[in-house]
Amino acid sequence: MADKQAIGVVGVGWVGLVTASCFAELGHPVVAMDIDASKVEALRRGEVPIHEPDLPELVTKNAERLRFTADSDELLAAADLLFCCVDTPPTVSGDADLSRVRAVLETLPSGSDHVLVMKSTVPAGTGAAIRREKPALAYVSCPEFLKEGSAVSDFMNPDRVVIGADPGDEAAADAVEDVYRPLGGEVVRTDVASAEMIKLAANAFLATKISFINEIANVSEEVGADVTEVARGMGLDERIGSSFLRAGIGYGGSCFPKDVSALKQLAGNTGYHFQLLTAVIEVNELQKRRVIKKLEKHLGSLAGKRVALLGLAFKPDTDDMREASSLVLAARLQGEGAEVVAYDPVAEGPAREALNAVDLRPSAAEALDGADAAVLVTEWPEFADLDWAGLAGRMANPLLVDGRNFLDPQALRDAGFVYEGIGRPSED
Ligand SMILES: NC(=O)c1ccc[n+]([C@@H]2O[C@H](COP(=O)([O-])OP(=O)(O)OC[C@H]3O[C@@H](n4cnc5c(N)ncnc54)[C@H](O)[C@@H]3O)[C@@H](O)[C@H]2O)c1
Repeated sequence: MADKQAIGVVGVGWVGLVTASCFAELGHPVVAMDIDASKVEALRRGEVPIHEPDLPELVTKNAERLRFTADSDELLAAADLLFCCVDTPPTVSGDADLSRVRAVLETLPSGSDHVLVMKSTVPAGTGAAIRREKPALAYVSCPEFLKEGSAVSDFMNPDRVVIGADPGDEAAADAVEDVYRPLGGEVVRTDVASAEMIKLAANAFLATKISFINEIANVSEEVGADVTEVARGMGLDERIGSSFLRAGIGYGGSCFPKDVSALKQLAGNTGYHFQLLTAVIEVNELQKRRVIKKLEKHLGSLAGKRVALLGLAFKPDTDDMREASSLVLAARLQGEGAEVVAYDPVAEGPAREALNAVDLRPSAAEALDGADAAVLVTEWPEFADLDWAGLAGRMANPLLVDGRNFLDPQALRDAGFVYEGIGRPSED
């Protein structure tokens, strides 16, 4: 059997570590480089610095084919195919910050004929600009669609692989298609700008679906409808589909907020006002804050009240706190004078760094002890199995705002709670 192509990965975060270990699992020798020397050291010791199901096992299993380094020369010497997986956070203006991508380009010697495969999410036009600057480099856009919490399985079972290349880079695109071939999934071969837009448009559309159902939820509350029933009835229409139609307290995470904002700003930079996305962002911001009114309806002023947050990560099965709804909610509660206590099954470390003056407890029961209200922020499966009747007795006041419509309202009411969902009939 021919030797498998060597692969280089730049940036060993969520996308980079999953990419590196999955390609190693497919038999490729992989060198993964990061500027964060402590992360590289931890990975060399076999420690995976993020909570992502199946990832530690994959890293351990493929240790022989997976090398970690902080030295870009070592990376460039080891592989021609370089997957760029560095972060592209928002700038203060909401545009994508490409400084990490630029730093990677600076490590490539002029005249470098490596293939740069862009997995980082970048504004449309980035690839063309890089190609102008580094004419010897081959450039392929291959945006990543994995979801934190199921990243390994998403990578290994893609529903599509988007490969964008411009004239002259067909051979580089073929090489990328070759390494993805064993994974199946429909391959979308296109130009670079379209590939870049596919990623931004996909995330913006999903965020739009979430903000749409959240507005339907808010209207449902006014007219006595139940948004979970509305979404069920809508989602069975195959033109609509049921995914991303769950009302709640808004989307967060490292991708949706920044990518929606980046697309809005990208459009604005061309002179086009993307009105729809402006509304999507505003609905999402307001949605996180609606919890305050729900609490005040039952408690009056929140000053001096103790509110327990259940779940802090932006979604279950991750410890990622980036743009989590819990951050805004905790700050708003504190702004109203409430004391905030919280519990998250895995995000305690990142939460400690991200949250101010929130009392983190080691279990849901300890967070609820003596609380005047609880807010379910992240739908961790373990919250479905709590002894809610027992917990009601430990609270000063058994009020629960279910920010993800995750629990059964009747079961909670039977357990002694006053239950408030999002877009569900409530108790006055
Ligand atoms: N996290 C996701 O779910 C997800 C999904 C799809 C796409 N993306 C996109 O993929 C990209 C990476 O996201 P992430 O969540 O993995 O980011 P991350 O912050 O988890 O990881 C980025 C890594 O890159 C490293 N890095 C930064 N500059 C570097 C440099 N010059 N050289 C080498 N390493 C460098 C950082 O130290 C960090 O370890 C972003 O553009 C993101 O939008 C993320």
